[in-house]
Amino acid sequence: MKFPEARPRRLRENPVLRKLVSETKLSLDHLVMPYFVRAMKEEKKPIPALPGLYHYSVEGLLREVGQLMKSGVHSILLFGVPGKTDLAASEAYARNGIVQKAVRALKKEFPSLLVITDVCLCAYMSHGHCGVVEKGRVSNDPSLKLLARVAVSHAESGADVAAPSDMMDGRVRAIRRALDSRGFESLPILSYAAKYASSFYGPFRDAAGSTPQFSDRKSYQMNYANCQEAMKEIAFDLEEGADMVMVKPALAYLDVIAFARRRFSVPIAAYNVSGEYAMIRACGGLPFFSEKEMVLEILTAMRRAGAQIIITYHARQLAAWNHREKVL
Ligand code: PBG
Repeated sequence: MKFPEARPRRLRENPVLRKLVSETKLSLDHLVMPYFVRAMKEEKKPIPALPGLYHYSVEGLLREVGQLMKSGVHSILLFGVPGKTDLAASEAYARNGIVQKAVRALKKEFPSLLVITDVCLCAYMSHGHCGVVEKGRVSNDPSLKLLARVAVSHAESGADVAAPSDMMDGRVRAIRRALDSRGFESLPILSYAAKYASSFYGPFRDAAGSTPQFSDRKSYQMNYANCQEAMKEIAFDLEEGADMVMVKPALAYLDVIAFARRRFSVPIAAYNVSGEYAMIRACGGLPFFSEKEMVLEILTAMRRAGAQIIITYHARQLAAWNHREKVL
């Protein structure tokens, strides 16, 4: 059928009909809100690089997450900002580390909250790299033992999902084995499988204090020119025992999500990263832009590309908009 018999506009005239034929649905059920918990006295402190977001103490986080859950978001991704760093990232797997304390408190107060913890070393290493540094380079195999320790200590604190973000080779297997050998065989792994070396992480690094003190992360995070390599990374992580995989960042990588969606039958997470959030916030304040409409559009696009899960700093605000005016 061709024009004039075919008129695609027929299905766009009426809002109920538009919804009826809509192919993609965005819902709070698919959103994960990231939080930074920090060893500090104040309950909350604004993060200058991320307008509208805060560092929280454990107490402050409990209060905040209570609000989040009331607004309809039930999953969080937790990052820690420790009081001290060293060359073994010891606060990352300390029994009384900031993430461990926060997870225990959160799960006690909100048993139904899904707590995903970021498993990495960068915020806990004095040099800011995601692995052990030897002779000026990030050394793969010695990092695996530490990463496995981090995952186990998060699990012991009550975390629901381990999300390794370091991009060392073989970390998923190392973490899976360590978890299984300690009785955590039911704890899922969401691996940051296709994580690119991106300039969109800037505000996060400022917030987490994890900027590398020398060189960059290009020897372990992926080259943004590559998509086939992402399929290889995802296949490896699945073979090693990942239950869900992530593509990160999201906005400039929707093609990677769409490719992965067709090739793999596991849940895919899109990480709408800090720089993407900060960009939308900055534009949202200008005339001619609506922050709310932009957020709805980009998050729906991530779902359309094939992501089940969307990790986004907009989650809290979107839930609040939805509460007031039913935008979803
Ligand atoms: C830690 C980590 C980073 C992010 C998530 N986990 C930073 C990095 O790799 O430098 C970025 C998240 C964001 O920008 O929102 N490895």
